[in-house]
Amino acid sequence: MAIPDEDVAQVRAATDLVALIGEYTPLKRVGRRFVGLCPFHAEKTGSFSVNGEEGLYYCFGCQARGDAISFLRSIEGCSFVEAVERLGTRVGISVRQESSARGKQDRDQQEVLKEAMRRAVEFYHERLLSHKDASQARQYLRSRGYDGEVVRQFRLGWAPDRGGGLVGDIDTPPGVLVAAGLAHEGSYGLQSSFRGRVIFPIFDPSGAPIALGGRILPHSAGSRRDASAGPKYRNSKETPIYSKRRTLYGLNWARQGIVQADEIVICEGYTDVIGLFVAGVPRAVATCGTALTDEHFQVIARFAKRVVLAFDADAAGQSAASRFYEWERLHSLEVAVAPLPPGSDPGELSQADPEALRRAVEEAVPFLGFRVERALASGDLRSPEGRARTAQAAVAMIAEHPNELVRDQYLVTIADRTRVDVERLRPYLEEPGRAGRGPGPRQVRGAQAGPTSATRAALRVDTERAGARGRAGAPGQRAARDGLTLAIHAPETMAGRLDESLFADPLQRAAYNALASATSLHQAIESSDDAVADLLLQLAVSEPEADADPTIVQLVRAAAMRALGQIEAEGRTAEAAGDQARLFAAAADIAQLKAELEVMLEPGVNENPPRPVVEAAERLLGWLRRRRGESG
Ligand code: UTP
Ligand code: MN
Repeated sequence: MAIPDEDVAQVRAATDLVALIGEYTPLKRVGRRFVGLCPFHAEKTGSFSVNGEEGLYYCFGCQARGDAISFLRSIEGCSFVEAVERLGTRVGISVRQESSARGKQDRDQQEVLKEAMRRAVEFYHERLLSHKDASQARQYLRSRGYDGEVVRQFRLGWAPDRGGGLVGDIDTPPGVLVAAGLAHEGSYGLQSSFRGRVIFPIFDPSGAPIALGGRILPHSAGSRRDASAGPKYRNSKETPIYSKRRTLYGLNWARQGIVQADEIVICEGYTDVIGLFVAGVPRAVATCGTALTDEHFQVIARFAKRVVLAFDADAAGQSAASRFYEWERLHSLEVAVAPLPPGSDPGELSQADPEALRRAVEEAVPFLGFRVERALASGDLRSPEGRARTAQAAVAMIAEHPNELVRDQYLVTIADRTRVDVERLRPYLEEPGRAGRGPGPRQVRGAQAGPTSATRAALRVDTERAGARGRAGAPGQRAARDGLTLAIHAPETMAGRLDESLFADPLQRAAYNALASATSLHQAIESSDDAVADLLLQLAVSEPEADADPTIVQLVRAAAMRALGQIEAEGRTAEAAGDQARLFAAAADIAQLKAELEVMLEPGVNENPPRPVVEAAERLLGWLRRRRGESG
């Protein structure tokens, strides 16, 4: 399966990368580039930069980088071909496929199913808005506090209560309706699968409808409802466009809110999602009648680092707990629980007390803390026996947590609250399943509340790393960076004025060579290894911070100083060896270098070097070039 290179290049060039990325994270213009919060990692200040002209992005925080195609691939988790096709559709270029008729067929079929789904969603929606047989449904939705705006935003619909509804109403072949899960063969021919139900359309993250959830009207509102009416919700079956294990209801509307808050709220039902939006928490999603899966978490981790569960997570029990910790570790996520009033769900709370719902999300506590708190609150803490039982139950909960430091802190909390000595509780941590999982709690025996030595060590390492990052580079490295940035952004100011010998740092030198030998920035990036490509992308989204002349002067000066040092060393070797000829040659070079360098070392030449200084730099550059040519 391959798309011709020129098609890829055309699609890439036609894509407005700033607009594309802007759909995932707000960008603002700074000079010639655009910056914003990185959609790939959690951050409070924007380190994500986009160069719209070149169509490249780079995150200075997490090193995510690339072009429109790689952006779409990482953020939507799609394949290269799919990314190119989607961008192609966006810019109106039809992408040719060289082989794999099979892959194309699959995609064609998916398009057909999505189109059928679009028509069905519109049909049901129109029906709810304006048909007389939907008046009970409208009344029911109003009673739940849904106004017209909510109905329109979530494209809610009404499926009429007769077998032929939809089937005869939209212009879609029977086979397609069946394949999309919208209809099935019944004893009287083709029957609509959704009948007499309020429709909650389910969309993929890009906003294409892929499935439906249908809710029956409650008894009081319906006319002839009984047990034979079936389950409260009937959902689409799995189809080539719909996988329950992956789908999150609401993600298409919540995407921006999630990225902005770096937080995603997960609830259980369609009406919970809508309730959270209505209450002013526009970052809620729900699974579609299934438990949370690994696939869901893969999707979630692409959008936010903090997950707030807005359902009774405790009821999910211990096995769910260990899965949450696993997901936290695997995706470096943080899972918290919104403390909803007992017995309420976000859908109801949104109507009864939206402020309480917002507060519950704001006050979400770490999953383990929530569980421990529950155990402590529900235990009998009046008698020694009660306290012992409660302590044991709570410790069993923290024993599941994979992080020793986390376990340790909760252990102290439990000890305090149950008035049991922390050292007497500790052995209970080592009960089933703990043995052989890395350093056991025994090794930190004796640790008290507050940072353990391991925490302190971790903190120390972190500050050291931060220091290393902040340290200034070798002399001339800053100017070399400016030189490369100018070569990318204002090549005309640098033409013929740079040379390999000006770049002492191997990475910068490699980047210069890649630029010098390629015909375009994209080609330079593609032909480079990872580290060099990374640097080129950083520079591509950076603003030149210096002008050409001072940059050249500084670069040449630093290079000449390096050369001077080398020649002086050669002179000393020659002198020691009694090699008069080499000693003279070295002395002559040194004299010439020093003479040229002298004007360049005068104070104040840095900002705006006068003409003679620039000319001296250019002479020196020629000399450096020749020297490089001679030496290798
Ligand atoms: P709930 O029973 O909590 O429904 O099921 P709800 O979403 O709160 O709806 P209202 O507020 O009572 O109208 C939660 C989710 O479980 C799935 C649906 O996805 C639902 O949104 N479910 C529930 C089914 O798939 N089938 C059912 O029969 C019931
Ligand atoms: Mn519910």
